[in-house]
Amino acid sequence: MANVTVTNHPLIQHKVSIIRDKNTPSKDFRAIIGEIAMLMCYEATRDLELTEVEVETPVAVAKVKKLSGKKLAVVPILRAGLGMVDGITALIPSARIGHIGLYRDPETLMPVEYYCKLPSDIEERDVIVVDPMCATGGSAIDAISLIKKRGPKHIKFVCTIAAPEGIKALTEAHPDVDIFCAALDECLNDHGYIVPGLGDAGDRIFGTK
Ligand code: PRP
Ligand code: URA
Repeated sequence: MANVTVTNHPLIQHKVSIIRDKNTPSKDFRAIIGEIAMLMCYEATRDLELTEVEVETPVAVAKVKKLSGKKLAVVPILRAGLGMVDGITALIPSARIGHIGLYRDPETLMPVEYYCKLPSDIEERDVIVVDPMCATGGSAIDAISLIKKRGPKHIKFVCTIAAPEGIKALTEAHPDVDIFCAALDECLNDHGYIVPGLGDAGDRIFGTK
C-alpha cells in the first residue's frame, strides 16, 4: 500500500505481543503502549530535515547535523491516544500537543466529536496524530479532517494496531497522509473490534473495565 508503513521492528513486535495478551495488567499495558509509541515515533520521523552546523568538541571542530528546527505537533485522539503522548514527547520535547476528543457510538460505530483544542500555530507545523487503534478508520478520518481545516503543513498518523478495513478507508479519505502501524490485523468483528487486536485500548490503558 502506497503510504502505509508496518513498523515490524523486532522490539515493536515483542512489545505488541505483550499488550495483545488479555492477562497483561493495566499498568504494564500503559507503560508498553508508551514504549511502542516511542519506537514508532523513531520510525515515523526518519525523514525529518537536518541542517549542517559546526560544534567544537574538546579536540577539534566537527561538522554535525542537527534537526532543522521544523516545528512539530502531536495530536492524540482521546482517550486512548493519550497513552502514546509521553513516549513521543520523550523523543521530541519541543513538540506542541493538541487534543481531539472522539468516541465511537457503540451502535453505529460512527465517531462523535466532544473536544478539539489544537496549537494556535498549527499551520506552521507538521502533525503526528496518534491513536493505538484504527478499526473502521472513522475516528482517524474525522480527527484528520478537523486538523486539515486548520491547514497544517503535513500529517502523519501513527497507530499500534490497524484493521485492513480502517487502512483502506483512511487511505481513500486522506491519500496524502502517511500511515504507520505496528501490526496490520485480519479483520473487524461484528462489534467493530479488531481481530485478533487487543480489545478496547482505552479501557486497557485506563483500567476502566
Ligand atoms: C477507540 C480507539 C480509536 C477508535 C478506533 O476509541 O482508541 O479512537 O476506537 O475505532 P474506529 O477506527 O472504528 O473509529 P473509543 O471510541 O473506544 O474511545 P476511547 O478512546 O475513549 O475509549
Ligand atoms: N477500538 C478499540 O479500542 N479496539 C478495537 O478493537 C476497535 C476499536
